[in-house]
Amino acid sequence: MQDDALSLRHQLVNWLFTPLFLLLLFSTVTGYMAAVSLSNKPYDLVLLERAKLLASRYVMNLENGAAQSIAPIFSEDARAFRYSVHAANGRKLASNGLLPSPRPVDFNQKQPQLRDTQFKGEKLRLVTLPVIRPNGKTILVQAAEPVQARLVLGRSILGNIVIPQLIFIVIAGIAVWIGLKRGFEPLDRLRRAVATRPRNDLRPLDETRAPGEVRPLIQEVNALIARLQAMMDTQRRFIADAAHQLRTPFAGLKAQAELAKREQVSEPVRDALERICVSSQRCSHLVTQLLTLARNEPEARRSAMMELLDLNRISQAIAAHWAPDALQKNIDIGFEAAEIPCPVKGDEASLRDLIDNLIDNAIRYTPSGGKITVRVGYDSVDHGSTWLEVEDNGPGIPLDQRERVFERFHRIPGNNQPGSGLGLAIVQEVIMRHGAQVEIDDGQEGGSLFRIRFPHQGQSDVRP
Ligand SMILES: Nc1ncnc2c1ncn2[C@@H]1O[C@H](COP(=O)(O)OP(=O)(O)OP(=O)(O)O)[C@@H](O)[C@H]1O
Ligand SMILES: [Mg+2]
Repeated sequence: MQDDALSLRHQLVNWLFTPLFLLLLFSTVTGYMAAVSLSNKPYDLVLLERAKLLASRYVMNLENGAAQSIAPIFSEDARAFRYSVHAANGRKLASNGLLPSPRPVDFNQKQPQLRDTQFKGEKLRLVTLPVIRPNGKTILVQAAEPVQARLVLGRSILGNIVIPQLIFIVIAGIAVWIGLKRGFEPLDRLRRAVATRPRNDLRPLDETRAPGEVRPLIQEVNALIARLQAMMDTQRRFIADAAHQLRTPFAGLKAQAELAKREQVSEPVRDALERICVSSQRCSHLVTQLLTLARNEPEARRSAMMELLDLNRISQAIAAHWAPDALQKNIDIGFEAAEIPCPVKGDEASLRDLIDNLIDNAIRYTPSGGKITVRVGYDSVDHGSTWLEVEDNGPGIPLDQRERVFERFHRIPGNNQPGSGLGLAIVQEVIMRHGAQVEIDDGQEGGSLFRIRFPHQGQSDVRP
């Protein structure tokens, strides 16, 4: 997985979306606060008017000598509207009992004061109003209403400001998300193109549809691929050349050892010469396999022609060619031909290398007295395709080795036959070149069954 801190998408989301979100949040909060404080103004004015009305009623009643009853004038919302009247010395003159006593500072004010206060767990908006009676004495009128009663307006502000803002944030988020997704589409496409490449495909990446910012990167990667390709070519040529150069000396060595063996020599010298023969034989085999592998690598075969061939004909000839070797080991090799031509679009020399190695393995690893069957067939279902099977009744290949045996130089541990471990690597190269597929199965009588399926090919135009 990619590191989140390095992800471009995360960087963009962080740097675009976080400030956008904070800005919107800020504007929502300040908008809400401004609206609430604006909506407080008319409420406050009404509250102040009521306090003044109360004060003038109270003073009028006092002058008329009937101060007791001022409440009825506000009876319609007695619970919401609270009041109290205090003399300058703090004595309570009238009240509906729902307000705190005034603070000492309130008696020093000359102007009406508005403030928020708390009384018995309830938040109140309170006005204190100093009133000077005709006789020169001051009384203090307090009037208040619960803040709760004002929230109706607040809620409608909430609905009208905050909810549209939230919708706006969500829409902005979706827009940013879609924008990023679309912006990253070319990069995703590039990633998929690289990820789905066959492992030996070293063609340059397509830069034509990449965004301008990414193009220089692709060009650099392509230059890197080209250098890699050149390096691999050099390496392959080196191995091929080295193998080629080694062929003659190894053949010479073997011939000389064979010659020397014919002379009258002591037993230990004969043994040594025998071992030299076997070793030089192995070396020649390794060199041949190396050459075959180099010949079948994709870089080497870029120019080779792919033609329409009949696999039936080719495999029959190869099976016949191996018959003497099989006979020598007392192995029965059979060929089951298809009744119709088996078309394969391919390179005949490569296909020969493939079948050679499969049959060579079958003969080498099947004990004497065993049986090998080579089969070729054509399935007309699914647009038609040709298959080849090489089955033996030898020791078989354990499940956990069935992928590894195709690796270069990998041999199953405990295998006591000589070999270089390159045969199935050659098979693998040929298969990939032909777009074919290989699987290893259990043979019908134990042993192993190599099954190769070539890509779709119609029956027409097969060379007879
Ligand atoms: N038909 C088979 N039956 C049992 N084991 C097999 C068979 N074919 C291949 N193997 C196992 O897979 C290993 C790899 O085979 P591969 O042909 O690549 O190498 P090799 O035969 O050891 O050497 P080379 O073919 O280069 O001489 C072999 O060493 C052998 O252990
Ligand atoms: Mg082999």
